[in-house]
Amino acid sequence: MSKTLNVNYEGKHCYNIEIRPDFNDFLSCFESLDFGGNKICIVTDSNVGPLYEAKLRKILSGANESIFVTSYTIKAGEESKNLDIINKIYEHLIKNHFDRSDMLIALGGGVIGDMTGFTAATYLRGIDFIQVPTSLLSQVDSSIGGKTGVDFNKYKNMVGAFYMPRLVYINLEVIKTLPYEQLTSGMGEVIKHGLIKDNEYYAWLKENSNQVKALDYDSLEHMIYVSCRIKRDVVERDPKEKGERALLNFGHTIGHAIEKCADFSLYHGHCVGVGSIAAAYLSSKYGKLSSNDYEDIIQTFKLYDIPVSALDKSMIDKVYETSLSDKKKKGNRIKFILLNSIGDAYIEINLGKEQIVEGIEKVLK
Ligand code: GLY
Repeated sequence: MSKTLNVNYEGKHCYNIEIRPDFNDFLSCFESLDFGGNKICIVTDSNVGPLYEAKLRKILSGANESIFVTSYTIKAGEESKNLDIINKIYEHLIKNHFDRSDMLIALGGGVIGDMTGFTAATYLRGIDFIQVPTSLLSQVDSSIGGKTGVDFNKYKNMVGAFYMPRLVYINLEVIKTLPYEQLTSGMGEVIKHGLIKDNEYYAWLKENSNQVKALDYDSLEHMIYVSCRIKRDVVERDPKEKGERALLNFGHTIGHAIEKCADFSLYHGHCVGVGSIAAAYLSSKYGKLSSNDYEDIIQTFKLYDIPVSALDKSMIDKVYETSLSDKKKKGNRIKFILLNSIGDAYIEINLGKEQIVEGIEKVLK
């Protein structure tokens, strides 16, 4: 009923990912950090705060009476992920006299994790923070590996820092309160892990879709553990995305472009799913992926109710232009992640405009 993964950074133990059925172990995990400050700010959003903030405060009140706990709640959604809101969090911390020994807790999904991490990385040149990811997507992806930041002038994640949390505490119970689309959005990243690194895990995901969708505890625990382990292994080997970590961007170049062209009205993991289908198509047409595997990948995304197409074909030029502004480039060539086979991804920098447009066209309606 509980699992732990250690994450190393530059060869040394840096933080644990604790996977639990509830918040009951949060206090002991927190105490093991030897917190030397006396103030904590829980950063959360208008969806998650009302559900779990009071619970977390109550747990923290068991730590030490002299710890002052405050919170800062932002409006839920990607539109909050900007420097203006970061300024407001800084103001809140300054008003409450936070110093370098104090701590932030990110309670929420990917937006909250990225923003809290960025605030922690930059406030007083860096204070500690804990990730308490509450969406499947943030549990298996964004809370691990220290990517923090905000969008800038509509460029996604354009300003940020690599900054490691002190702890990632994953409470699986919170998944029960997720809207179904948020669960399937997270599954976009989960399937991606199987596709880029582990064909047995991919096969397990196909075989266990009913249990996962029914939120069977053991299945969820296994799935989240394996996904976190895959991500952990990659970020340990390449924390600053000099090479291998880019494989985690499978499906993201076209996926991000679609997400942006849809004005962030679609779920991130669904866009990644659509982008993954485009990348799988290009892998079979211009690489080594078999057409059977390409068809199989489409079926697996469908099995988890992840859309396999989005937007209208009239958007093709806009999606292409937007994909060019993706920051995942080498020189002026887009770094595309393709598959040799299921479980084996590689970086391709030689796709030309025609090929990319063909991949995009395949996933527009
Ligand atoms: N979400 C991709 C990464 O953390 O590198």
